[in-house]
Amino acid sequence: MEEKVLILDFGGQYDQLIARRVRECRVYCEIRPWQTSLSEIKAFGPAAIIFTGGPHSVYAPGAPDADPGVFRLGVPILGICYGCQLLAARLGGEVIPAGEDRAREYGRTETTFSTDDPLFRGLPEQSAVWMSHGDFIARLPAGFRSIARSAGCPSAAICDEKRRFYGVQFHPEVRHTEYGAAILRNFLYEICDLHGTWTMGGYRERAAAELREKIGSGRVLLALSGGVDSSVCAALLAEAVGDRLSCVFVDHGFLRKNEGDEVEAAFAGRGANFIRVNAEERFLRKLMRVQQPEAKRKRIGEEFIRVFEEESRKLGRMDFLAQGTIYPDVIESGLGSAAVIKSHHNVGGLPDAVDFREIVEPLRLLFKDEVRALGRELGLPESLVSRQPFPGPGLAIRVIGPVTKEKLDTLREADAIFREELEKAGLGASTAQYFAVLTNLRSVGVMGDGRSYDRAIALRAVETEDFMTADWARLPFDVLDRVSGRIVNEVKGVNRVLYDITSKPPATVEFE
Ligand code: XMP
Repeated sequence: MEEKVLILDFGGQYDQLIARRVRECRVYCEIRPWQTSLSEIKAFGPAAIIFTGGPHSVYAPGAPDADPGVFRLGVPILGICYGCQLLAARLGGEVIPAGEDRAREYGRTETTFSTDDPLFRGLPEQSAVWMSHGDFIARLPAGFRSIARSAGCPSAAICDEKRRFYGVQFHPEVRHTEYGAAILRNFLYEICDLHGTWTMGGYRERAAAELREKIGSGRVLLALSGGVDSSVCAALLAEAVGDRLSCVFVDHGFLRKNEGDEVEAAFAGRGANFIRVNAEERFLRKLMRVQQPEAKRKRIGEEFIRVFEEESRKLGRMDFLAQGTIYPDVIESGLGSAAVIKSHHNVGGLPDAVDFREIVEPLRLLFKDEVRALGRELGLPESLVSRQPFPGPGLAIRVIGPVTKEKLDTLREADAIFREELEKAGLGASTAQYFAVLTNLRSVGVMGDGRSYDRAIALRAVETEDFMTADWARLPFDVLDRVSGRIVNEVKGVNRVLYDITSKPPATVEFE
């Protein structure tokens, strides 16, 4: 039987991280809202339940609560922060607001652990944890004892070993808790007796079987962008339903060097119908003399939908539309019905344009690195699986101002050199995103014996975890020097290379 953990969401800001850490222990888990009914919980069949943190007080009227039946399921429970307080309050203990004798705790806090308890097995007796709470457990429920304490909190962790109920007042899921990952691992392996059997190989088999059952003899259409998510989605569907899948790959002419051919090569021979539409000319026509970034983006989006509609009409009626929605999209859109609305946005409003019976999203429970692992498992080339983010409008928003074929070709060459040199220097994996931009600046230079008046290429490389903020990458000067030398020598029409040293904010990652 598959080992599954249910994470009951009480509105904590780190819930996604809890799921990440559990999956890192190779245990499958899902986040569900706290209102999930007992029968739904039973149907899910968890081997353990984790209560997340949350912004409320357990004693406040209408505070989020779990169905009391969860305490009688006989499965281990770990309560984190609010979840810990909930455990204490609902099982007969007392939770009160922090007062004069008990301080609130926020941030890194030195904590002492009972290392003979399985939750803290193998840890040093003292280390830093991340606290963020204004309430206290004043009295423990019957059967519970304290197994960790900090200066302001005598019950920083509690347990009732008999029932395997554990609570931690701090957040083991965040990196600031020094041994947080080890604590979660101990809960799963030592207390719940799980074995970490969840693998991408297993996921691949199960997901393909489920897709086969759902799709039956129906036909599926997928808009393939060549990005990681839609590529992995295509490979999984091809394995499941073969030629009942049609992938429409619209090559708008704004792709990087060799990208269109790489995508095509990856999908040739997979059994699905791969349709590449070379639409460079019509996209270029749409962008002729268009200067403003937003106007470019809008025109590209609209044209994409037109091309896609034309192709899907040619294919006749399709039953399912497949999308590469992934778990963070689902979580960020609130785990409820909003998830479906958001998923439409992934393909720029396509479902409004064409009529489908249903949407299939076979990656909707996977995190990005799991999607990459699944791609490798399915035999997709590394160049496709580990690719950095690439905007839908492509190089059209990296050519500043009006786009022409000649400018795109110049940019493609410079960009390929930059990426090649960075990868050769072993910096590819550690740099979140790196690319070249063709600026609208012309400047004077001297080449050989003559004066030049050519274009300037800007190089952009950033480090970031989430792309909401980003820091410019401190690339070594010798790498930048090699890139600059090669670009001015090898790319016609370029005589100057600039390196962007602006972070986000105030700049954005892209120039347009
Ligand atoms: P910005 O420029 O907003 O970029 O700082 C943040 C991240 O988003 C990517 N990006 C896009 N991705 N369609 C996409 O799919 C777009 O229109 C788009 N614009 C920006 C950008 O490459 C970076 O990773």
